[in-house]
Amino acid sequence: MLQPKTDKLETTYPMSPIGTIRSCFSTRNGTPRQPLIVPLARARLTFDASLVPPASLEGLEEYSHCWIIYVFHLNTDLDKLWKNPSRSKLKAKVRVPRLKGEKMGLFATRSPHRPCPIGLTVAKVESVQESSILLSGVDLVDGTPVLDIKPYLPYCDSIHGANVPHWVKMDDLLAVASVDFSDDFLSTLIGCWPAVDKKSLYTSPEEFQMLVKQVLSWDIRSVSQRTQVEENYEKIKNEQVYEDDGHDIIYHLNLEGLDVAYRITSYSNVLVENVTVSSK
Ligand SMILES: C[S@@+](CC[C@H](N)C(=O)[O-])C[C@H]1O[C@@H](n2cnc3c(N)ncnc32)[C@H](O)[C@@H]1O
Repeated sequence: MLQPKTDKLETTYPMSPIGTIRSCFSTRNGTPRQPLIVPLARARLTFDASLVPPASLEGLEEYSHCWIIYVFHLNTDLDKLWKNPSRSKLKAKVRVPRLKGEKMGLFATRSPHRPCPIGLTVAKVESVQESSILLSGVDLVDGTPVLDIKPYLPYCDSIHGANVPHWVKMDDLLAVASVDFSDDFLSTLIGCWPAVDKKSLYTSPEEFQMLVKQVLSWDIRSVSQRTQVEENYEKIKNEQVYEDDGHDIIYHLNLEGLDVAYRITSYSNVLVENVTVSSK
């Protein structure tokens, strides 16, 4: 039997990814904070053929959803954490977007920054091919390494009457009031489309535009971006100067290799202004 490698300081288990995610989210910023809130968020999970024979996927297509267990491989502190776990200082409390940046104990949250940076998500199974699965509703960044998948079983995975803290129930807190597009957004997008068309998870510029709308229906800005802007609004209010826009802050969302530029007003209206082929 395979034994964990043990030495004086630590025990490690030799687990390696069984597959990799190709997701519509090119960067962490803009990736939904939880699964299923952006139904059009698509990803393809492709399995490592040397570890996963195609027959192991047989029957999965009969489930509507599956759990995905993965590594938060883009956390910026991984090097420190893995090279010297006892020295890498774990933040016991983390800022919570729904609490406007107030702190909460790490294990009372779904923060990616954990002593063992493993993520857990659920996704809709769209289709199963020989060595890959097309998923939707994902909150995964492109390139995410996957450790395991399991079918979602409503009879035991869904807990009727489960309790959560009050702040978790505040669903609308991060919803924006509206998402509108500039007059020439779609024509510009159609112009960019040939650059991404062949490898895209979307069939047309119109479908991609719907994805942008769904993603931006939630305030995806970081806690610090939002606080900074809110402080500015307060200043303006106190100086009794009336302005209705987010000043000149242009935010960027990177989806499918396209850079989408947008503004957000003090009343949480989003205006999507432009799209270009990303240079990254
Ligand atoms: C709040 S976490 C929750 C993830 C998962 N549903 C969970 O509960 O474990 C979701 C965020 O993790 C980040 N994320 C997603 N995939 C990642 C990856 N491979 N590496 C690092 N961060 C990632 C994105 O910024 C996303 O908004």
